[in-house]
Amino acid sequence: LESNTLIVVLGASGDLAKKKTFPALFGLYNNGFLPKGIRVVGYARTKMDEEEYHKRVQQYIKAPIPAMKEKLQEFLKICTYVSGQYDEDDSFQTLEKALGEIESQYEDKNSPKNRVFYMALPPSVFTTVAAHLRKNNYSEGGINRIIVEKPFGSDLASSRKMQEELKAEWKEDEIFRIDHYLGKEMVKNLLVLRFANVMLDASFNKSLISNVQITFKEPFGTEGRGGYFDEFGIIRDVMQNHLLQVLSILTMERPVSFSSEDIRDEKVKVLRYIPPISKDEVLLGQYVGAETKDGKKPGYLEDDTVPKDSICPTFAAAVMHINSPRWEGVPFILKAGKALNEQKTEIRIQYKDVTQGIFAEITRNELVIRVQPGEAVYLKMNSKAPGLSMRTVPTEMDLTYKRRFSDLKIPEAYEALILDAFKGDHSNFVRDDELDIAWKIFTPLLHHIDEQKPKPEPYSYGSRGPVGLDDFTAKHGGYKRSEKPYSWPSTSVL
Ligand code: BG6
Repeated sequence: LESNTLIVVLGASGDLAKKKTFPALFGLYNNGFLPKGIRVVGYARTKMDEEEYHKRVQQYIKAPIPAMKEKLQEFLKICTYVSGQYDEDDSFQTLEKALGEIESQYEDKNSPKNRVFYMALPPSVFTTVAAHLRKNNYSEGGINRIIVEKPFGSDLASSRKMQEELKAEWKEDEIFRIDHYLGKEMVKNLLVLRFANVMLDASFNKSLISNVQITFKEPFGTEGRGGYFDEFGIIRDVMQNHLLQVLSILTMERPVSFSSEDIRDEKVKVLRYIPPISKDEVLLGQYVGAETKDGKKPGYLEDDTVPKDSICPTFAAAVMHINSPRWEGVPFILKAGKALNEQKTEIRIQYKDVTQGIFAEITRNELVIRVQPGEAVYLKMNSKAPGLSMRTVPTEMDLTYKRRFSDLKIPEAYEALILDAFKGDHSNFVRDDELDIAWKIFTPLLHHIDEQKPKPEPYSYGSRGPVGLDDFTAKHGGYKRSEKPYSWPSTSVL
């Protein structure tokens, strides 16, 4: 989209808008990436005047250097606000009037007027707002796009219902379903790492790979978000979307082209090879209060917004199987947890043992793709220790971004995705059938948890997770810890 474009942020005073949408819009604006003449219209229920609104937007955005502060003042000039209800046509008509006024000032009066609607809204009002926007605020003759974000329901049936309601009003090519992991630099790099490197691509199969782990760890609990979280749990919050997206790109076949439909066709195809997760191949955990290096931290149940008898998992490890010719028999272990010992999202691909006979004790190759923090790709490999002996030593081939790329600036995931939505590129957004299959894989397990209420294993705030985790990964995934001490020197450059 070039000129004559505006973006409406619905839910402009909410958490998502505050933490992600506005900082990303400003980031793009600051770097000159937004369409020329763009205007940003906030919409929410809170009544406030422009001055108050600008004060808020300013608080959402970090502008550490003077040049950015100046830009921020410029950015505020393109930000206006309309307050209104989420379920009344009158309110959306007021919004329409405000949009019309902005558009009447466009230099080129004849070119089509384009509108992007960003729904930073709670799921309860999601489809109502989408319907009201379609009815009252659709730009005839221009491009209309709607950006939506999880939770997309809480199981297959509720997700289908929500998608049907959305699709009654909006066409699939107008809908941009965000999974912000798809906007992360390293997740985007997966396509290149895999398909632009013959050597890696050729090794990605059941003959050479023993097991794969995809891990998401956060060092903080649900503090303040317990109300939302308790309804969803870690599986719905992170695993069914973010980690499954990573898995599908990591394992899909090579797409015919980089077009969004070709890529998404392949993702859907590999997901279809995955049977629903078995309840016997899952480990659930919930954090309890503990003394940590940062002082005493409360347990999940001590959060006032959480019911005292909640069995909601804040940690989960689950084994997935891909019954395709390439991957049959290779366990994929997805792990996600809150209140753990560190922040880290990484993919760990462990290769098989060297066949017996020539080496007595040798570590397995591992390809580690670290998504965050400190983007890096490294391959653990064995080498002869330099010197006169034939001793082997585990070492690594290392692509640490900070070291390899000078002047490194990695865009925020939301910046990348909002820009894609402006361009109309769906590659990094979730297609309806993809969402459907994702829910099919997880729904039986989620229903089992909702109905049978298995008690999650307690783990201490700030620990590595439930004590049974290592046994679980060894038993179900065949993950083999290296016997030789191995420490990766690059952690020092994070
Ligand atoms: C969100 C989850 O989708 O992703 C949060 O709702 C989680 O619970 C967040 O903290 C993690 O995102 P990131 O980009 O910080 O890894």
